[in-house]
Amino acid sequence: MNTPLVFLLGGYGGAGQPIAHLLLEHTDSQLVIAGRNTDRAAGFADQLNREFPGGRVSARAVDAADPIALQNALSGVGLLLVCAPLTLLAEQIARSALAAGVDYLDIYYPQRVVPVMQALAPEIEASGRCFIYQAGFHPGLLAALVRRIAPRFERLDSVRIGLAMNETHIGSADSAREIVEGIADYEAFVFEKERWKNAGTADMQTLDFGPGFGRRACFPLWFEELRNLPKQFGIKQLGTYVAGFNWFVDYLVTPLGMLLFWLKKGLGLSLLTRLMLWGAKRFSKPPYGVQMLLLAEGEQDGRPKTLRLSLRHSDAYYFTAAATLVCLLQYLDGSIRRPGLHMMGWVIDPERGLNDLEKLGIHVEMP
Ligand SMILES: NC(=O)c1ccc[n+]([C@@H]2O[C@H](COP(=O)([O-])OP(=O)(O)OC[C@H]3O[C@@H](n4cnc5c(N)ncnc54)[C@H](OP(=O)(O)O)[C@@H]3O)[C@@H](O)[C@H]2O)c1
Repeated sequence: MNTPLVFLLGGYGGAGQPIAHLLLEHTDSQLVIAGRNTDRAAGFADQLNREFPGGRVSARAVDAADPIALQNALSGVGLLLVCAPLTLLAEQIARSALAAGVDYLDIYYPQRVVPVMQALAPEIEASGRCFIYQAGFHPGLLAALVRRIAPRFERLDSVRIGLAMNETHIGSADSAREIVEGIADYEAFVFEKERWKNAGTADMQTLDFGPGFGRRACFPLWFEELRNLPKQFGIKQLGTYVAGFNWFVDYLVTPLGMLLFWLKKGLGLSLLTRLMLWGAKRFSKPPYGVQMLLLAEGEQDGRPKTLRLSLRHSDAYYFTAAATLVCLLQYLDGSIRRPGLHMMGWVIDPERGLNDLEKLGIHVEMP
């Protein structure tokens, strides 16, 4: 397969920048850095061309809210990679990719985009294009990690996945707003007694992340990619749990958001967004970074078995970019490029993915 021209929508944003760096470093892709600001797109493209000689990077100003402009900008492109907090425009952007006849990959984490994308699945299939969604580390890696460890068990009883993040840097007000909107949309499920049940504070777990993050109270979080894991691997208990940012965000901004959104959805959104940005910067204390922890219990060779898999990096945006690159490497060499709509967590080869993450500098611990 020829290396496609990759169009990075949000290419100079928090996630976009390290994704661009990694793509240039580890593939021979040509990139278009795109966003609404001509100077920022051109400035970052110039910087990349200086760092990676060969003139592989160009810039394009486009507002994704204008579907015709986006479709025109995609002329000659092979893959649209969406790394912008544009979940409200997800359908329109995906349709622009379909209309332009390009492949597609997104890293949105709000789960409300999942049904939007799933509704497009028949059209995507019919178009012959390859659409990969829910890429990155959360979502993106959760199902992949479970698929990676499942063969190590004859019987897999329980899997808990913990996420801990400590960051002062939230890319922009737009991505802080996306986190705050997540408070309004908060919905979680855990799998037990053979069904996914609604989860709340009673389902919180204290997880020990080890040196660095230590023991943290974590609340359940839902990612659609988990849904079919119990059926696939016979898992009896499954859930994802996330530790908060810091005391200010967790005990003031989040409850305030819940209260305001309970009174009226969207009430106080811009105040909460400002508090989120300020609180993350002001109150997060070292060690910074992100950690994913997978704790599994089951049986092997007739004996009880436990497994602890930990992935860590000091920079959450780098972690996102590395996980996205893992998927892109498999897409670019053609091994997972097939028509239809695919979740990263289910489409990638998990063994190769985990090895590649380690090579990219993610600290992986698995006995
Ligand atoms: N899956 C994962 O593991 C994971 C982890 C972290 C983040 N994410 C996702 O990553 C995405 C990006 O987050 P971020 O923090 O990197 O965002 P960010 O720092 O705010 O960057 C957003 C980028 O998108 C551009 N943009 C925004 N609106 C646009 C529009 N209408 N048209 C064209 N470009 C536009 C921005 O440039 P202009 O404003 O100048 O246009 C900027 O370049 C989010 O969707 C988030 O959910 C995923």
